[in-house]
Amino acid sequence: MASADGVRPRLGELFTEERSAEVVCASLADSPDPRLRRVLESLVRHLHSFVKDVELTEREWQDAIAFLTDTGHKCDQTRQEFILLSDVLGVSMLVETINHRAAGRATESTVTGPFHVVDSPPRELGADISGPGSGDPCLVSGRVTGPAGEPIPGALVDVWHADADGFYDVQKPGTVPEASLRGLFTADADGRFWFRTIVPRYYPIPVDGPVGRLLGAMARHPYRPAHIHFIVTADGYAPVTTHLFDSGSPYLDSDAVFGVKESLVRTFAPVDDPARAAALGLPSPFRSVEFDVTLMAAS
Ligand SMILES: [Fe+2]
Repeated sequence: MASADGVRPRLGELFTEERSAEVVCASLADSPDPRLRRVLESLVRHLHSFVKDVELTEREWQDAIAFLTDTGHKCDQTRQEFILLSDVLGVSMLVETINHRAAGRATESTVTGPFHVVDSPPRELGADISGPGSGDPCLVSGRVTGPAGEPIPGALVDVWHADADGFYDVQKPGTVPEASLRGLFTADADGRFWFRTIVPRYYPIPVDGPVGRLLGAMARHPYRPAHIHFIVTADGYAPVTTHLFDSGSPYLDSDAVFGVKESLVRTFAPVDDPARAAALGLPSPFRSVEFDVTLMAAS
């Protein structure tokens, strides 16, 4: 039962290798949701094209089903293996980038990551968020502005990061106070924020699951370069979810989740100035990094 014009799919056309995608897409003709129909049609076309491109074997199809099943079984309240799979295939970054195209001088976005699982506690500007862990003391400061360079007083700056061993507080339950290395700051009248902490270390994404096995099969390492997470929000402006990356970290050019953007890399510069350190309440020497954030107007 070929379609009348030989090209357009028609419900009732029988499945063939050549027109497999068209036949399946024809079954979507009565889908009442146009967006769902568009997404599913594209998914079917790409999936069929992929299977034909690699001439997928039945054994490979079974292995793929088993892999996805394992990925689902690995998920629980604190572990999301499907997001991890999306991350290591670059899909999370692609979705993030498409949905938050930075215009002009606006700060670029990157992935949220899996560790924003507890609310950051509100803290005073200048607070020390380093918790009980040791590490290189560091001042983080910056200014939140709008697209015309105007300061944004009261902008909320939510930060969280790993410790000097590469672990987040939630990965050390019962050993460090919850919300260590996290803070929610309110920018001052000039849009400025600052806080004290320690320099974070690079860390591996979780590899004790199917995604770890996949990375191994691809001979890829699991590491993310050292970074501090930011979510910056303000009334009237589009929020940005992003990272500040340490220019001195390894893995900047091979982030396991492809999260690095050049505009987000900063130097944690050493400062040997005892008087300034004392004024800030930091040991001397310390390190200092500046990260200005420019928000776009809300659309
Ligand atoms: Fe992170």
